[in-house]
Formats: sequence, structure tokens, C-alpha cells
Amino acid sequence: MSIIFSGIQPSGNLTLGNYLGALRNFTKVQHDNECYYCVVNQHAITVPQDPKLLHQRTRELAAIYLAAGLDPEKATLFVQSEVPEHAQLGWIMTTLSYVGELERMTQYKDKASKRGDSIPAGLLTYPPLMAADILLYQTNYVPVGDDQKQHMEITRDLAQRFNRLYGEVFTIPQILLGHDGTRVMSLQEPTKKMSKSDDNTTATIYLLDNPKDIEKKIKRAQTDSENTVRYDIDCQPGISNLIEILSAVTDKTHEEIEAAYAGKGYGVFKKDVADAVISVLEPIQNRYQELVGDPELDRILDAGAAKAHAKASVTYEKVCQAMGL
Ligand code: ADP
Ligand code: NA
Repeated sequence: MSIIFSGIQPSGNLTLGNYLGALRNFTKVQHDNECYYCVVNQHAITVPQDPKLLHQRTRELAAIYLAAGLDPEKATLFVQSEVPEHAQLGWIMTTLSYVGELERMTQYKDKASKRGDSIPAGLLTYPPLMAADILLYQTNYVPVGDDQKQHMEITRDLAQRFNRLYGEVFTIPQILLGHDGTRVMSLQEPTKKMSKSDDNTTATIYLLDNPKDIEKKIKRAQTDSENTVRYDIDCQPGISNLIEILSAVTDKTHEEIEAAYAGKGYGVFKKDVADAVISVLEPIQNRYQELVGDPELDRILDAGAAKAHAKASVTYEKVCQAMGL
């Protein structure tokens, strides 16, 4: 039995990348482990958010976690800002971090480059808050997408640094990559990851997209003129991304997929990818519609916050004692 923690930001509508890279793995591990799953709204505010929309998306994201199969009897589901220890330990982790190492994070460089001269400091200190999220629960494993590898490295560094300076308080967590680290790329710029914060909505499959839109988006996905369904990230990134998606939703290997489409055109292949994606997303969408308006959702989140707080406060107390706070 291990302790598992992960979070997703309520910063936009969830994508197929979020589901295949992260959410789907959350539900797989919930049966045999002690799991904490968080809607990380304090990470979302590292860039400006509309308050009403943020509140609404927080609730919607919680409903999506449940619709995707998360069982609140088996896993603790909660909202980050409702457990104050996250921000409290986040500050302490910030004091342990070096500006240089934070500036080297690729996600920071990427997001900061879009903000001109007014780079929010929270973008820089995102990793110490993420470290706090994870370390508060004495987490063993963190199911996240491949894009979070660098943030997991710094989380481990910060935990080790703390333990060295103040004594053994934190468990050192490990990344848990699902399905060999599925990484879903943008349908229009397949060298870039599919992201819910991408402004190009035709490049992104959202979990709540209707079947028609999914089909249209996949049909229009950028490919190449090779006309061969072959997994080759460098020469055929668009087709490789569609192979990766089909592989993740059907559990077939890249080789099996290549063999199945040998001599067939992209049209047939794309139709099958769309059908496979739709058949995975439709049941989630149906459950989501039932859950999102249900007051039971609030009860689940309140109970989750209470359970998370009980666990987090034990670690935080140890941190304070170790540091003389
Ligand atoms: P986003 O970048 O879409 O805003 P988050 O940063 O909130 O997503 O990440 C939520 C989880 O989804 C993380 O575990 C992240 O690794 C995973 N994830 C995000 N985008 C992808 C993707 N394109 N492919 C695979 N996993 C992804
Ligand atoms: Na993000």
C-alpha cells in the first residue's frame, strides 16, 4: 500500500492529454493505495483568472474526476485552497529554493516568455508549491504526465534538501508514468503538447467535446504527405501522435497499429482514431452531466478537504517543529 498524490489545475477545459496522461491513471491505482487527488486552484492563479469562471471550473473539474471513475470512498478528492497547509508549506519550500534552479524550469521559461515584462512571481515559484502539495501527504508515487518530469525532479531535490538541513521529515516521492508515459500532442502543431491553455481549440480535444467535433478535429489534424501510418516522431509527428492516441485508448502497441493500417490511407485511420476516442469519452461525458449539478459533489469535496487536512496538518506540524517555527 503506497501513498499517491496528484493534482490538475482548473485552468481550462480538460483535454484528452490530461485524461490519457494523468486522470486515467488516477483511477487505476485507487483500489490498492491511499490516494489524494486535488483540484489545484492555487496553481491556476499563477496567471490571472476570472473569479467566477475559476470557481465554476473548480467544481467542473471535481465532477470530471468523479466521472472518469474516481471513487470518493477509495480516494480523497479535494480543492487545494480548502487545505491551508498547501500554501503554508509552499512558502517554506519557496525559502528552500534557489532562483537559478527555478529559472531553469522549461515550463517557467515557456510561460514567462508569453508575459513580456510583467512575469508573475507565482510562475517562478510554482514548483515549490507543487512540492508542498506532494510532500504534505508523505507521498510515494505521483501519477502525472511526462511533461511534469522536471517538476518532479525539483520536488525530490527540495525534499532531500529539507531532510538534510532539518532532519528526516519528508518521504522522497517518485513519478508514476502511465502507459509508458503517454504524451498527447497538439493536433495542429504536433511538436507541442496538447494543453488546455492552448488558444487554438481545433488543436485540442476536450473531454467534453461532442462526437461531431472530435471527428472534425481529428479529420483536420495535421499530418504529412507520406501516406504511411508509421510511428516516426521526427519525420511524421502528426501521424505518430494519432498512433499514440489510438494506442493509449485501445491498449494496442504502435507496431500492431502500423500493421493494421499498412496500405490504407489516412482517411480510414483518422476515422478509426476518432471512433475509438469517442467510445472512451462518451460514458465519461454522460456521468459528468449527472454529477456536475448534484449537491452531493459539495459534500464529497467538504469531506475530502477534512480528510486531506487531517493528514497534511501532521506533516506540517513536523516541519514547523524541525525548523523552529
Ligand atoms: P495543462 O498543461 O493541460 O494545463 P496541467 O498542467 O493541469 O495540464 O496538467 C495536469 C496533468 O495532465 C499533469 O499530470 C500533466 O502531466 C498531464 N498532461 C497535461 N497535458 C498532457 C498531454 N498533452 N499529454 C499527457 N499528459 C498531459
Ligand atoms: Na498547465
